Amino acid sequence: MRLRNDPEAYDKLELSKNFIQQPSDYRGKWHEVFGNDHPIHMEIGSGKGRFITTLAQQNPHINYIALEKYPTVLLKLIRKIPEEGLRNLVVISADAERLEELFAPEEIGRLYLNFSDPWPKKKHAKRRLTSPGFLELYKKVLAKDAVIEFKTDNRGLFDYSLETFRECHYTLLKVTFDLYSSDMLEGNIATEYEEKFHKLGTPINKLIAQLDNSIIKEDDKNDM
Ligand SMILES: C[S@@+](CC[C@H](N)C(=O)[O-])C[C@H]1O[C@@H](n2cnc3c(N)ncnc32)[C@H](O)[C@@H]1O
Repeated sequence: MRLRNDPEAYDKLELSKNFIQQPSDYRGKWHEVFGNDHPIHMEIGSGKGRFITTLAQQNPHINYIALEKYPTVLLKLIRKIPEEGLRNLVVISADAERLEELFAPEEIGRLYLNFSDPWPKKKHAKRRLTSPGFLELYKKVLAKDAVIEFKTDNRGLFDYSLETFRECHYTLLKVTFDLYSSDMLEGNIATEYEEKFHKLGTPINKLIAQLDNSIIKEDDKNDM
């Protein structure tokens, strides 16, 4: 995301009620932050935040966490929160690599990955948010039967991810190589990147994957 770095971004974020400064303090206690027991859904790499702020407004009975590593980008997201505030959305500035330090097992009910950086060079493959390393990490914080929704304009990253989700024992519930011609478009919220690529005529790919607990049990049996 090519935004000029704002060296004061973090200080500005701290002024927002929706910003969580020490997210690791809430590991296993995120419901206390929201003050209710509603499910918690998270987007990793929220960017400028149109997707997650719109979802939060549409679904007041779901709690949302926006995780984004760059404070300067998060400022754009924070500015999209309506003046009256959003009680069901909090924002964290952290790298997804820290997930296990921030969340307890089964704390997250659904995960959104939208237009994640493709990292096309093979030597950077581990940084892709759909690499086996990350897909295994997600299992450590996702609730049983949780789903991951992933959208990208990048066909190479999408084909790679179809393989990695299968390899890591997720079941692909739905797949499209052209979201805008598919029944998966219903209820779709276009992210900033998505709008840009869709306008250019690039097909948008989407998959919905679910952790397949039964397959994992079979594998565990084989290891015994
Ligand atoms: C290409 S942008 C897409 C932004 C937004 N989701 C959209 O669709 O408009 C990818 C975003 O993911 C963030 N990101 C990439 N790797 C990350 C990581 N490991 N942890 C947290 N955020 C990450 C980047 O900083 C960037 O803002």
